[in-house]
Amino acid sequence: MLPYSRQSISDTDIEAVVDALRGDWLTQGPMVARYETSLAEACGAHGCVAVSSGTAALHLAYASLGLGPGDEVITTPITFSATANAACLQGATPVFADVEPDTGNLDLDSVASKITDRTVGIAAVHYGGLPVDLAGIADLARTRGLWVVEDACHALGASYDGAPIGDGRFSDATVLSTHAIKNITTGEGGAVLSRRADVLERCALLRSHGIDKRAGDPDAPWSYDMLALGWNYRITDLQCALGLSQLARLDAWIERRRELAGLYAHHLARRLGDAVRPQAGRAGRRNAHHLMSTRIDFDGLDRTRADVMRGLRSEGIATQVHYIPVPTLHYYRERFGDQPRAGADRFYRQQLSLPLFADMREDDVIHVVSALERQLVGDAHGS
Ligand SMILES: Cc1ncc(COP(=O)(O)O)c(C=O)c1O
Repeated sequence: MLPYSRQSISDTDIEAVVDALRGDWLTQGPMVARYETSLAEACGAHGCVAVSSGTAALHLAYASLGLGPGDEVITTPITFSATANAACLQGATPVFADVEPDTGNLDLDSVASKITDRTVGIAAVHYGGLPVDLAGIADLARTRGLWVVEDACHALGASYDGAPIGDGRFSDATVLSTHAIKNITTGEGGAVLSRRADVLERCALLRSHGIDKRAGDPDAPWSYDMLALGWNYRITDLQCALGLSQLARLDAWIERRRELAGLYAHHLARRLGDAVRPQAGRAGRRNAHHLMSTRIDFDGLDRTRADVMRGLRSEGIATQVHYIPVPTLHYYRERFGDQPRAGADRFYRQQLSLPLFADMREDDVIHVVSALERQLVGDAHGS
């Protein structure tokens, strides 16, 4: 079975983890700080706080910006639920704007139309690895006094106007995930990047229960103090050893993903024309190609997405849908009610993610496109 995504683990990665296991620390040892420094460097960030997941990183970013009950955060419906869930965990209300039809990224006008006097921030996702209109969002946020969190869980390795995502030019915090199938992996893991020292400090404090050893009694070597109510969102030395080893291959992997996405675009256009459209790009933005997200005119082809996915699976190809719009999920419907969002609903109806990962071969791409052609238009046109 060709998975829709898959991690790459080398012997060097395995040795790095084994070395860490032979060291003195399992958690919060020297690898954590080294990984944080390298990740910050790779992203051009002032600093980095590495944590146990992307969800934990979102929660810490929101908490460090003071998000609380009564506040509204504008975000996208086309994301993994964690982007909104972490705001709910702080007692705030996620407000869902609409998306651009061709990228699945937040639509700036729609974001502007959702601002109320309770809005405190914008959580913008770089969907599939394509940077959102950061300059537009930052301008809007500045004029309305809002903070910006970039959910860059798909976008490690992407860039905007030639500078890496995560450098913090346009936002108060950028959040990464290093879950198994992200652009690099630590198994589970995440990070907050920021140019703001106060945000980084607060995230580091809240990552470990709000406890600060420096705040203890200097005459009592055992002492510490707890300055705020936090969580255990720590990442381990083992995970950071893997992350450091993986980070060395990030650029090569993004380049490989770019090549494979280009190959897909070429063969899809040649074989299926407008019936299957890969996520559009935008000038000046380098897509990290986390997903091979396509929009398929299932209705026009008189096919259902479920049948096409089942047909592909029978040919040994796994696909996935990114995403069921978050406000239509049971918890959100029940709690906040749902209003139709024409762009997101249409995007969802047509969306299908094809296999894409760094170790994929070129003939895998051709195999997927041929199988998709068979499933969409039948053997008459397939090869
Ligand atoms: C856009 C987005 N945000 C947040 C997350 C949460 O990251 P994690 O799974 O590391 O908690 C994910 C994970 O899939 C994601 O895709």
